Amino acid sequence: MYVLGIETSCDETAASVVLDGKNVLSSVVASQDNLHVKWGGVIPEIASRAHVQAVVPVVAEAFQQAGISRDQIDSVAVSARPGLLGSLLIGVTFAKGISFALGKPLTGVNHIEAHVFAANLESDITYPAVSFAVSGGHTALFYSESLMDHRLIGSTIDDAAGEAFDKVASILGLGYPGGPVIDRTARAGDRKAFQFPRSLIREDSYRFSFSGIKTAVLYHCQGHTRGKDQRRDISTEEKADIAASFQEAVVDVLVAKAVKAVKDTGAESLVIGGGVACNSRLRERLSAECPCTVHLPSICYCIDNGAMIAGLGYYRLQAGIKDSLELEADPTPVRM
Ligand code: KG4
Ligand code: ZN
Repeated sequence: MYVLGIETSCDETAASVVLDGKNVLSSVVASQDNLHVKWGGVIPEIASRAHVQAVVPVVAEAFQQAGISRDQIDSVAVSARPGLLGSLLIGVTFAKGISFALGKPLTGVNHIEAHVFAANLESDITYPAVSFAVSGGHTALFYSESLMDHRLIGSTIDDAAGEAFDKVASILGLGYPGGPVIDRTARAGDRKAFQFPRSLIREDSYRFSFSGIKTAVLYHCQGHTRGKDQRRDISTEEKADIAASFQEAVVDVLVAKAVKAVKDTGAESLVIGGGVACNSRLRERLSAECPCTVHLPSICYCIDNGAMIAGLGYYRLQAGIKDSLELEADPTPVRM
């Protein structure tokens, strides 16, 4: 079964054709980073407008790279929740249009479930698993009986981990998106240079909190000028130390909670997904410290992409889960 997957929940316009839930025939991603960089974060109205412009050429490119015509697809899957409402609406409306025009079934996919499905595109995962979604909008742990059956066991009570990476990069003047540049900058730094808070790390729960560390880095960078919205001059070497120390603090918490969840539940596998799953230190530490098989998707399947939507869409359709043209975009975040 050929499934077309469409993803527009945040600031990437993506489309992919996947055969039988596994064989990725094409995966096209148009990033909007250049549009948001000067604001240091995603501006929802700009994102929606850019999706409108990109969605037709991105889908056309996905068909071309897959080497099939649009009449050959069997169904359409679209990221329908959660995300930015205006962004989701573009993909959902476009997917409804294609589904109606071609007379092919439609299924609306949960973006977070798609992130933790992504590893299934590359390996066979033994369930039950602990699934860990770490992205710009979400930090959520699930106990998963199968690739379609997830029970939320913990999430952030304030900011997502990716948000903290983006904010700290902005404080350090390193640009947007923050995750990749902090990851690179941290390589030259000393992880032990500064002690930033590891909120809730010792709490017997799967709750996360990343707002405190953002403030701690901000205060560190303001130094004696605190309160005047100024930064002292920070050398390149100190920036690297801050990036490395910040990254280590976030990774300490993510690894501690993931390992705790695996031990507490006796899960056979740990599956991670979402943009922060690209982080080199997180990947290294999880592989070294997790007591079960760890599935780390390739970078192209960690960041927002259409293949994870088409792949999970296939399994939903196989299970008979279809949506009508009444399908609505739903921005409600995943929270305990
Ligand atoms: O999954 P994603 O593409 O979009 C959302 O669903 O939010 O995740 C984007 C987030 C951004 O916050 C970005 O800074 C972060 O993932 N990110 C990283 C890395 N690459 C991307 N965070 C840490 N280390 C990275 N290497
Ligand atoms: Zn995402």
